[in-house]
Amino acid sequence: MNKLLISKYNVPGPRYTSYPTVPYWENNLTTETWKGQVLDAFRQTNDSEGISLYIHLPYCESLCTYCGCNTRITVNHAVERPYIDALLKEWAMYLDTFQETPRIKEIHLGGGTPTFFSPENLAVLMEGIISSGHLLKDAQLSFEAHPNNTTKEHLETLYSVGFRRLSLGIQDFDTLVQKAIHRLQSFEQVKMITELAREIGFTSVNYDLIYGLPFQTVESITDTIDKAKLLRPDRIAFYSYAHVPWIKPAQRGYSDSDLPQPETKRKLYETGREMLEWAGYLEIGMDHFALPTDSLFKASGTGNLHRNFMGYTSGKTRLLIGLGVSSISDSWTAFAQNVKTVEGYIEKINEGELPVFRGHLLTAEDLILRQHILNIICKGETSWQREDEQCNALYSTLEQLEELEHDKLVNIIPFHLKVTTSGKNYIRNICMAFDARLRRSQPQAQLFSQTV
Ligand SMILES: C[S@@+](CC[C@H](N)C(=O)[O-])C[C@H]1O[C@@H](n2cnc3c(N)ncnc32)[C@H](O)[C@@H]1O
Repeated sequence: MNKLLISKYNVPGPRYTSYPTVPYWENNLTTETWKGQVLDAFRQTNDSEGISLYIHLPYCESLCTYCGCNTRITVNHAVERPYIDALLKEWAMYLDTFQETPRIKEIHLGGGTPTFFSPENLAVLMEGIISSGHLLKDAQLSFEAHPNNTTKEHLETLYSVGFRRLSLGIQDFDTLVQKAIHRLQSFEQVKMITELAREIGFTSVNYDLIYGLPFQTVESITDTIDKAKLLRPDRIAFYSYAHVPWIKPAQRGYSDSDLPQPETKRKLYETGREMLEWAGYLEIGMDHFALPTDSLFKASGTGNLHRNFMGYTSGKTRLLIGLGVSSISDSWTAFAQNVKTVEGYIEKINEGELPVFRGHLLTAEDLILRQHILNIICKGETSWQREDEQCNALYSTLEQLEELEHDKLVNIIPFHLKVTTSGKNYIRNICMAFDARLRRSQPQAQLFSQTV
């Protein structure tokens, strides 16, 4: 572990689920322009690659204090049906825009807690969506699940409409850590749901784990990874904890001094990575590990790994429609985000309008830089042509790369960059060299979590 590099590169930085990153969107998009972008993308890609859908289900019964996602806490399950109705109305607006049957390549239910919803309501939602489109034979359907409220009925219902993947939010198995983040769940419960899912026929189980949480130590993370290994999930997302209390005040439920400091945090990651690699998992992109039998592993071998607002995926569609409160859609040439409150979302839907409240139309420069960032974050390398160096943004990037090359984080030969083994730990910093918008206008206040 190189302490000098850790302190030098531990700066606020994006996770690059999009370029430009959301704070740099220009908001130069009306709802009508957005529909036009969607229609163009749909016509260009529906026959060849199909489309992806992300559906945000924001409700949770209790607040996990570490959580950075858009959630709504309630124990009132009467909220389920109106929300499902609104999602189906939003989908109907997109169907009107497409004018033809969409070919669906991917659906992901995220949250919040999708398993907050009853199996019956999830069935209404999924049947409504799937019956209006054509589900491709190799479509990937996945959902996020809380081990404590996922039932056999949830698993059977979602399996029967085509889901084969689930992602269990675990974060950590240690009781002290779980209490600090207000997220209690036992190893036995996780084991039971994992085994049940496999018996029903799910072919891929993912565990979400986080390093950098309050009170985590090398011993506690070792124990958490040991427990995860025992159940052998197909994938593990081993996320770096994003501490953003100015956006998520619940993260003030513990104090900064309870958090592992940067060198310890890096040690937690390295401990986890070594243990997972010994157990046969391969690190894919940033923060992800997969067994050789998993599609993410295969996609990484064939150069098909892709990254979008859902994180890493094993295939690329240029059109991703995000339904639900706060969801982000991507038409490849534009991004659009839905309003962030449930009330605002439902109101817009009932007025018959797409609930988009901000967006960004990509410039020619954005498109070039986004491709480089995607190449780096998915493949660990990128190339350009001699004439591309005339482009100001790339020229300034190359200047920034000299420092990274000096620190042996990247190797550069003419017109080609490759991330080195030690550079893998600094992938966000390497992408930042390509982020011309960040370079031109450094934020006045902290926007992003620290990169270490
Ligand atoms: C919306 S959550 C889904 C959790 C799932 N609904 C559940 O209740 O188990 C998606 C994942 O994002 C990750 N996540 C949330 N907040 C985070 C943070 N502050 N830093 C890093 N990862 C975070 C967690 O691993 C979490 O499982």
